[in-house]
Amino acid sequence: MKILAIETSCDDTGIAIMEAGEHGRFEVLANIVSSQIKIHKKYGGVFPAMAKREHQKNLTSVLIQSLKKSGLLKTGNTGFKTSELQNILEREPDLYKKIVLFFKNHKKPNIDLISVTNGPGLEPCLWVGVNFARALSYVWDIPIVPVNHIEGHILVNFLEHKKIKFPAIALVVSGGHTQIILVKGVGKYKILGETRDDAAGECFDKCAKILGLPYPGGPEIFKLAEKAKPGEIKLPRPMINTPDYDFSFSGLKTAVLYADQKATLRLRSGQEKQKYKAEMSAEVQQAIIDVLIKKTIKAVKDYKAKTLILGGGVSANKELKSQFEKAIESNRSTALTGLELIFPPVNLSTDNGLMTAITAYFHRNKKVPWKTLKADANLRIS
Ligand code: KG4
Ligand code: ZN
Repeated sequence: MKILAIETSCDDTGIAIMEAGEHGRFEVLANIVSSQIKIHKKYGGVFPAMAKREHQKNLTSVLIQSLKKSGLLKTGNTGFKTSELQNILEREPDLYKKIVLFFKNHKKPNIDLISVTNGPGLEPCLWVGVNFARALSYVWDIPIVPVNHIEGHILVNFLEHKKIKFPAIALVVSGGHTQIILVKGVGKYKILGETRDDAAGECFDKCAKILGLPYPGGPEIFKLAEKAKPGEIKLPRPMINTPDYDFSFSGLKTAVLYADQKATLRLRSGQEKQKYKAEMSAEVQQAIIDVLIKKTIKAVKDYKAKTLILGGGVSANKELKSQFEKAIESNRSTALTGLELIFPPVNLSTDNGLMTAITAYFHRNKKVPWKTLKADANLRIS
């Protein structure tokens, strides 16, 4: 079964083509991600309308690249009713022009299933992907399976781990979400806790912006943090001792803002400023890691999880992963004896089409007609 998957929930335009064979064997034929970082860097963050425009620009060329890479691009012509396609892409006129040209010059590829992220995420961005999937589904007459983006961040781990033991606890940490999820099996989820305000990735991004670092802030803070030790500057660990599994990161950002205002008045030389930025980065990163680890390990113990799954852009952070490993090792003799920690490779931590393809494979029977498929910015996993 060949699955073509589309992911446009935030600022990455991703299309993957995957062949799912017997016994859950996944062969990745293509996984192309066109990043919009350069554009959003100029403005210090993602503006949904701008991201939507970029997705419209990129989708057709990312589709062509992924079909080419998979050996599935065939020249020729595919017929369709112009008025129907116009209706589907009514709100994406730039995309309409490009995809019409594509259909006029290419035959239907050998694909069995289309999948698309339909939520959660930035509403205008989700809709471009969904309408693109609807257009392909209509013209090619191939069914669609919609995919929850958070579930994608969890199930992408099946690429490298064929047998995940349940119950598992998943920590999904991205630019838009921070959730601790009880995973009883594929498709069986319960959100145990989540952030009450900013997501962990958002906190990295906002603190980086305060420090004058470019977007996205997570990797920038990580790089600077390597040059200093946490604890030189002291920041709070919000909600670290509350008995629930919830988080709050907006206070941390405010604390960084106040500290930064004072530091800017005090620091004179460039060298002093660099030292301060590195120390602040190390402390911000550590404060985020401390709360993430404390709450997640508590959930792992409370629910006697056999696997701890990390996912989402922030799980690309090396320090987070190594401190999770250490926390588990130091608890081995007690509650966490058989626990296995799994996380995706860096390119699959951040948004990509393959996570959508893998998730669609598990839900391959949940097809939705293109006529009724909708995006849902607030889609919940449980
Ligand atoms: O999952 P993702 O690509 O998009 C969303 O679904 O939001 O996550 C993007 C987030 C950004 O906030 C980015 O700063 C953060 O992931 N991120 C990192 C690292 N790499 C990306 N945060 C900390 N350390 C990193 N190495
Ligand atoms: Zn994501």
